[in-house]
Amino acid sequence: MKRFSKACERNKEPIGDVLADILPDDGLVLEVGSGTGQHAVAFARRFPHIRWQPTDRPGRLDSIRAWRADADLDNLNEPLEFDLFDDAPPVDRADAVVAINVIHIAPADAIAPLFTHADAVLDEGAPVILYGPYRYRDRELEPSNEQFDRHLQARNPESGLRVFEDVDDIAADHGFEHVATKRLPANNDIHWWRR
Ligand SMILES: C[S@@+](CC[C@H](N)C(=O)[O-])C[C@H]1O[C@@H](n2cnc3c(N)ncnc32)[C@H](O)[C@@H]1O
Repeated sequence: MKRFSKACERNKEPIGDVLADILPDDGLVLEVGSGTGQHAVAFARRFPHIRWQPTDRPGRLDSIRAWRADADLDNLNEPLEFDLFDDAPPVDRADAVVAINVIHIAPADAIAPLFTHADAVLDEGAPVILYGPYRYRDRELEPSNEQFDRHLQARNPESGLRVFEDVDDIAADHGFEHVATKRLPANNDIHWWRR
């Protein structure tokens, strides 16, 4: 039941260091595509003032539940089923939306719904935070990310690295302004936006 991702173990600290500067002092963080549940546990533990709401697509919650049960953290909610193509968000409101390594796995047309849902649940000024590898229009893709992109598309033609500028255009269409980027190890970036 309890799945394990080595990447999560490697990236939870650097991602957490950036989240420490972005997340509000308290409130609810809505995590999209929580995967194994390791990040949810790590960040609920690291940010005890925050309530963490993990989610993932239907049928994918067992590992999150198992990690949550072992961690026994008061501020980590039961995971909720949520697909970005759902009509409604899984919660009525949140103080931040976080998606780690999701937008290059989900189809490209899941990005607009992500910002639609974020728009529905976030107050003005609350961040949307997206971590993962990106393409950029003004630079060559790193060889490791080029290889990763080929691997993703061979596995599922709908997956693949997204072009940052396209993501930013979609964010802007939904009223979100890009705040900053932080480069993290292994050619991954965190971008965040606020309305
Ligand atoms: C590479 S995994 C990342 C999991 C976790 N966030 C991590 O960093 O280890 C991609 C995640 O995106 C989720 N996902 C893919 N398509 C989705 C969609 N349409 N709506 C919501 N989540 C989706 C998958 O179920 C999976 O949990």
